[in-house]
Amino acid sequence: MPSIKGPRIEGIDRITYGVEDLDACRRFFADWGLSLVREEADGLDFESLNGCEVRVRRADDPRLPAAVEKEPTVREVVWGVAGTDDLDAVRLALAQQTEVRESDGMLHCTDPNGIGIAFRVSAKRPVEIVGTPTNAWGHAARVDRPAAIYDRAQPVEVGHVVFFTDSLAETTRFYEALGFHLSDRYPGRGHFLRCAARGGHHDLFLLQTPEARRGLNHVAFTVRDIHEVIGGGMQMARCGWETQLGPGRHPISSALFWYFKSPAGGLVEYFADEDVLTESWTPRDFTPSPTLFAEWAIAGGLDGNTRRQKGGG
Ligand SMILES: [Fe+2]
Repeated sequence: MPSIKGPRIEGIDRITYGVEDLDACRRFFADWGLSLVREEADGLDFESLNGCEVRVRRADDPRLPAAVEKEPTVREVVWGVAGTDDLDAVRLALAQQTEVRESDGMLHCTDPNGIGIAFRVSAKRPVEIVGTPTNAWGHAARVDRPAAIYDRAQPVEVGHVVFFTDSLAETTRFYEALGFHLSDRYPGRGHFLRCAARGGHHDLFLLQTPEARRGLNHVAFTVRDIHEVIGGGMQMARCGWETQLGPGRHPISSALFWYFKSPAGGLVEYFADEDVLTESWTPRDFTPSPTLFAEWAIAGGLDGNTRRQKGGG
């Protein structure tokens, strides 16, 4: 008997925002490094390098799933699966938990946290993109070749999304039943989940703060390497966008990050060099603290013109 396997969920295929200010979002995501592939009165369609989609719609668009908060926010996360067999497996797993609506080859539903989600056979494109190798002691991976300097970022894809939740345990069970794996946790406070046993540290982070509210924390875009985090962040600073925190480094996941405030709601993050996990990984428990969130970070960001700490002279 072949073992029963869960669906192969590959990652985030599309994020759909409901916003108030389409013009600001057009400038913001173009400066962020996404390609605008469609612009109509009802909204904007952006793509990353591998065809991961970012859709921006008016918050009052009746076709959008309901919002969980008053501010502009993410209205739907579309997850990509490997093939039609995997979509069938997701359909079965979803049917045991919630109501599912099928349209345009997608399975749409609402997770226990109230966030619209959908599944489809992934429409992302394979891309040959390699970040800059590093010359670590004992492993010189870049020989006769200077490291990259980026004038701006071009994100590869959406790597993860983070929501505030008022139902951490129930929402985690929902995603685990679909095949997500727990990577690490703040017991009772936050769960880092990855959509496949083998892959990046987290595709979804659920955060239950003491006030237990629902909402968007941030959408994170994968870039090639630390140099693109820095080059992309300095370009955003030159364009006048405001840093929330960064650059810096997360001890949990090991990733380098830079967060910006987004007119589409919540924050957006450039990140690179996250941990890659397998079936052998054992989830760890942590107690939340500022040093655990960031080993180090620059408050206020770098000035894109002076290339020094903002306000640092
Ligand atoms: Fe993040």
